[in-house]
Amino acid sequence: MLNKKTVDDLKDISGKKVLVRCDFNVPLKQGVIQNFKRIDGALPTIKKLLEKGAKVILCSHLGKPKGQPLPEMSLAPVVQALSERLGVTVKFVDDPKVTGEETKKIASGLKDGEVFLLQNTRYRIEETKYGKEESAEVYAKELASLCDNQIFVNDAFGTAHRAHCSNVGVTKYTKENVAGYLVEKELKFLGDALNKPVKPFLAILGGAKVSDKINVIENLLNKVDSIIIGGAMAYTFLKAQGIETGKSLVEEDKLDLAKDLLKKANEKGVKFLLPLDHVIADKVDFANKTVPADGIVKNTQSTSIEADFMGVDVGPKTIAEFSDVVKNAKTIVWNGPLGIFEIDQFSKGTVEIAKLVAQATDNGAISVVGGGDSVSAVKKAGVDKRISHVSTGGGASLEFLEGKELPGIAVLPEK
Ligand code: 3PG
Repeated sequence: MLNKKTVDDLKDISGKKVLVRCDFNVPLKQGVIQNFKRIDGALPTIKKLLEKGAKVILCSHLGKPKGQPLPEMSLAPVVQALSERLGVTVKFVDDPKVTGEETKKIASGLKDGEVFLLQNTRYRIEETKYGKEESAEVYAKELASLCDNQIFVNDAFGTAHRAHCSNVGVTKYTKENVAGYLVEKELKFLGDALNKPVKPFLAILGGAKVSDKINVIENLLNKVDSIIIGGAMAYTFLKAQGIETGKSLVEEDKLDLAKDLLKKANEKGVKFLLPLDHVIADKVDFANKTVPADGIVKNTQSTSIEADFMGVDVGPKTIAEFSDVVKNAKTIVWNGPLGIFEIDQFSKGTVEIAKLVAQATDNGAISVVGGGDSVSAVKKAGVDKRISHVSTGGGASLEFLEGKELPGIAVLPEK
């Protein structure tokens, strides 16, 4: 079990500079933040540091600017959101070098209780080259020098699966490295679910491709009592059993693997639940997230899907079958939608499952939802507040479920 040092283990930080890696990689539409979860998630750590009288320097990436100071990936929109929430004016400078002269000046002149947000760490190409190029070592040193090589807090769970300068490299040059409260919370919920689940333990996995979830399924087969599979990847499993899937998205090269996973589940006594019926469509306009006017949408009566139609959501029989398993579960981990939920017409299965997970949680189950799409799904169903823990990590939570060590966490010392 991971038991990392946290902000609570920092002593006498009054008047000291603390560099905090956050994950402010927030969705933006024309410069307007669409979801504040990651910003809100970072507040407890920042507030605690301010309370202790520290000078707080925040850093994060946003998008993938690949070393270019692209204005649409500036962290400027985050400044206002943070200032409002913290009740202090967060300092910020649009520094294409991230650690340039103006930045150094502001960092060195910070007063106790002040907050300074650096520009997008990926404006520098070195950020993602840690361990690969010598220049990245220099950049990591520059970042650490902004807090006088003293205290670094990693609170960027969403980035923990990356080994970059601002979350891994920097720790080599700072004296004390600890986890922030968000990282602590994520590790607790995901870790407890995986390592000491209250039984029955159910995993709900959706999404388009089996290939994206192979390692998660393999790892979870050793831990769970049941797995529900939805989304397009269900069609690969169905086809592997010889069931007609029409023109549904199927990974032909993963059929043997799907058979193998089904066999393993059977050997381990894990209930492997696949859809019993489907919502199907003959045409989908994916670009405009709609069904063309002449498109046909209908429910199947059985597991098979007729030629010229593709599966787009789970059907009512499936929801009823899944419902019993969800209601009885005491630990639930969910990653990935059960249909093309971004198209309203095909979101019913995912939304219904979200409601069932919330209901199970109301009745005492621990539920952990991760992955951008499933997080949007619980929001869309209006039940996000009723889930025990909605992870801020997409790729990071998935890699955690795969049982992988996350580099951003691995570098932090244990208590
Ligand atoms: C995420 O959104 O999953 C994290 O912020 C990591 O972003 P990345 O996939 O661009 O590294």
